[in-house]
Amino acid sequence: MIAETFSRSSGLNGTLLTAADKSISHRSALFAAMAEGTSKISGYLRADDTDSTLAAIRALGAGVKVEGDSIEIEGIGLTKALPVAGAIDVGNSGTLMRLLAGWLSGQGQGSWLIDGDDSIRKRPIDRVAVPLAQLGAEITTTAGLPPFTVAGASLVAADVQMTVSSAQVKSAILIAGLLADGVTSVHESPPSRDHTERMLSEQGAELEITDDGTTRTISIQSCDSLRAVDRVVPGDPSSAAFLLVAALLVPGSQVTVRNVCLNPGRIGLFRILKRMGAQIDGLPAVDPDPLGAEPIGDLTARSSSLLATDVGRDEVPSAIDELPLFALAACFAEGTSTVTGAEELRVKETDRIQTVVDGLEGLGARITAQPDGFTVVGGTGISGGTINSWGDHRLAMLGAVAGLASDSAVTVEDFGAASVSYPKFATDITSLA
Ligand code: S3P
Repeated sequence: MIAETFSRSSGLNGTLLTAADKSISHRSALFAAMAEGTSKISGYLRADDTDSTLAAIRALGAGVKVEGDSIEIEGIGLTKALPVAGAIDVGNSGTLMRLLAGWLSGQGQGSWLIDGDDSIRKRPIDRVAVPLAQLGAEITTTAGLPPFTVAGASLVAADVQMTVSSAQVKSAILIAGLLADGVTSVHESPPSRDHTERMLSEQGAELEITDDGTTRTISIQSCDSLRAVDRVVPGDPSSAAFLLVAALLVPGSQVTVRNVCLNPGRIGLFRILKRMGAQIDGLPAVDPDPLGAEPIGDLTARSSSLLATDVGRDEVPSAIDELPLFALAACFAEGTSTVTGAEELRVKETDRIQTVVDGLEGLGARITAQPDGFTVVGGTGISGGTINSWGDHRLAMLGAVAGLASDSAVTVEDFGAASVSYPKFATDITSLA
């Protein structure tokens, strides 16, 4: 495994595009496979996770032509998934694993085995299997974990109260809802990212969303076919966040990331950072239409002095993948910052409360773990040292940003994990130096 060292930077400057959005890439491929006809996807994320999705839909019978980041997919329709010899390998991807479970559970026949890497085998699938069982799905897990088997059943609509705020779980239920007889409703609080709602609606599914201020309810009608649509995937705000936080923390920096997805369910970290005093321009004031196209724009960040803040449960879903970066920013902020209500971090690619706390502590941070988050005593920055990614892409990139903002340098062990979501990360961030 390759280690990479990132030394203190004297300023990051420039304008660039970041990696294509991972959540939207997964969905664009899966929903194209579920559609009738041919879909063209431009700017598809070519990374380990989203390559797993292309392999999975190909195995299930979709025609997939790949030319760089331009993908053409010939759909198989909603209920014509083919049998697969052996297991469908989802690699490291929780999103692929859970969305596939929703789709395959409504096939009416057949049976599929789903498995992945060592990390995926530690990630819960019962959170999907249990609510899907309310619709009549037949999923057999290994004590709540992968590998698991999905038998294609005839589903009936249900009213599902989510017990975790998770877009993956919600999406699995909504996809199964398309295949179930009647109208399926999902209640979530606080709301999670809504790419599935927007994208299925673009493909002709009938959805209705209501929000009473505490709970968002999404209802989806049963559907015979989805339209094939062409899509252009915007930049990933979670990938952009590494470049922008680096600019905030390294003195003498100004970085613009163009064409970023600014879905309100994805930009929580930027809202939190602004509250801490970060100079970030380009955040949208309003979301034009929660069942319409994704809001997209350019974000600019300049080196900033930060003040500590508290992040609570309601803010967690829209910043879930960026909380490691929040921990790093909090090391540089005056005062004590906390994250609470974020126990979900424990079931990500690694236990991200443990790996972030251990990793940053090893670099000189004053950070302590709690069962549902962490506390950071800030103002001292990062001295430097070595951090292990433990195969977690976001940890690998966190170490790199920590190094650029450190007093000396940070060596990231198993830096290659970054290729799960952002294969060009090292090239992009070094191009700003
Ligand atoms: C994702 C949802 C989130 C997020 C993950 C991608 C998605 O997971 O952490 O990186 O594409 O739906 P949860 O649904 O488990 O919160």
